[in-house]
Amino acid sequence: MACRICSGRLHQFADFGSQPVSDAFVTPGDTAEEYFFRLSVGLCESCSMVQLLEEVPRERMFHEGYPYLSSGSAVMREHFWSLAERFLATELSGADPFVVELGCNDGTMLQRVAEAGVRHLGVEPSGGVADLAAAKGVRVRKDFFEAATAAVIRAEDGPADVVYAANTLCHIPYMDSILSGVATLLRPGGVFVFEDPYLGDIVERASYDQIYDEHFYFFSARSVRGMARRHGFELVDVERLPVHGGEVRYTLARRGERTPSPAVAELLAAEDAAGISDPATLRAFAERVARGRDELVALLTRLRDEGARVYGYGATAKSATVLNYCGIGPDLVTFVSDTTPAKQGRLTPGSHIPVRGPEAFADPYPDYALLFAWNHAEEIMAKEEAFREAGGTWILYVPEVRLV
Ligand code: SAM
Ligand code: TMP
Ligand code: ZN
Repeated sequence: MACRICSGRLHQFADFGSQPVSDAFVTPGDTAEEYFFRLSVGLCESCSMVQLLEEVPRERMFHEGYPYLSSGSAVMREHFWSLAERFLATELSGADPFVVELGCNDGTMLQRVAEAGVRHLGVEPSGGVADLAAAKGVRVRKDFFEAATAAVIRAEDGPADVVYAANTLCHIPYMDSILSGVATLLRPGGVFVFEDPYLGDIVERASYDQIYDEHFYFFSARSVRGMARRHGFELVDVERLPVHGGEVRYTLARRGERTPSPAVAELLAAEDAAGISDPATLRAFAERVARGRDELVALLTRLRDEGARVYGYGATAKSATVLNYCGIGPDLVTFVSDTTPAKQGRLTPGSHIPVRGPEAFADPYPDYALLFAWNHAEEIMAKEEAFREAGGTWILYVPEVRLV
């Protein structure tokens, strides 16, 4: 297996065993049909990109029934709306600006752009969520973005001022095609802005559940700068984001067009100091993860033996890795509560725990709730104050197993 960015040699540092497609929630009775793959992750010795060693075919993940909705969190809605305002006030403030969003999902960000009457296009292969975006007045192309798609968009709509992708670029193994597509699409002086979970946060917090089929790459400033330069781009800005357990928003421009901000050199230096791309750091991460698994399984087993009731909260894609790596099933977690309509009434992939709507969580409250959507902890704990008041306890497993 060679690096998907530079063909360099990959060194595996963690293995989560056989895993299902993380967002493939199963219809009860249909469990024989599940697709499994080997989830392991490695570091490229040449370009330091951290990546999965096996790729799941994209049509197995992103299709008509893809359940994830960007609008499922109030904090994320605010996050995308404030970015839309920022784009409108800066990069999109010229004459007849045009923005393309890759993986626009249900149109949460582009809705604001559409309301401002600014030319835009969402490129979204998952038909169900693309329809939701269209219903909000967002112009959507139901397609995978790649070099060929970019050429068609450029021919039909002309060059873009901004190409933007949130939690999408790290999902796409075929990066050569993507970056050559972005180069085709972007006008001179335009920017490519993308935000994804940050390797530095994953290593620091041992948030191993960020590793699942859809998350193919785990970016750092160092690996992104190298990837950008292979395609004539430069990393000109980085911004750390608190969302989704710690992300970085990267800005690329064509080399020579913009001067990199001091934040780029600062983050590169911080990465070197923390050694986030050192094999020894990544091996230590894997050891910490294995200890965390043993602690979580021991806790859940003890609670079951004591007769406590434990529910899961948030049927996240991330939870697939935790449940299948730890071997947690319905004997340890009765059901998982989730607000997403397309997940309710189904079973979690591989582990087959029922998913129910949020009303089931309070009827009656469990003794413990295992917070799989820990990246939305503040929002969820505020909303579910009555659970704690009723004597309930949250179980968190990142950065370590603890009760709150
Ligand atoms: N941008 C949204 C957000 O941050 O909430 C959605 C993120 S969702 C985790 C990833 C999205 O990327 C999915 O809606 C998926 O269909 C889309 N996607 C996957 N491959 C893509 C590709 N090649 N081009 C455009 N979108 C893609
Ligand atoms: P995410 O961590 O990938 O954003 O997924 C969050 C999941 O948790 C998603 O399926 C929606 C669900 N969720 C709830 O059930 N209740 C909530 O209050 C929030 C914020 C999310
Ligand atoms: Zn490489």
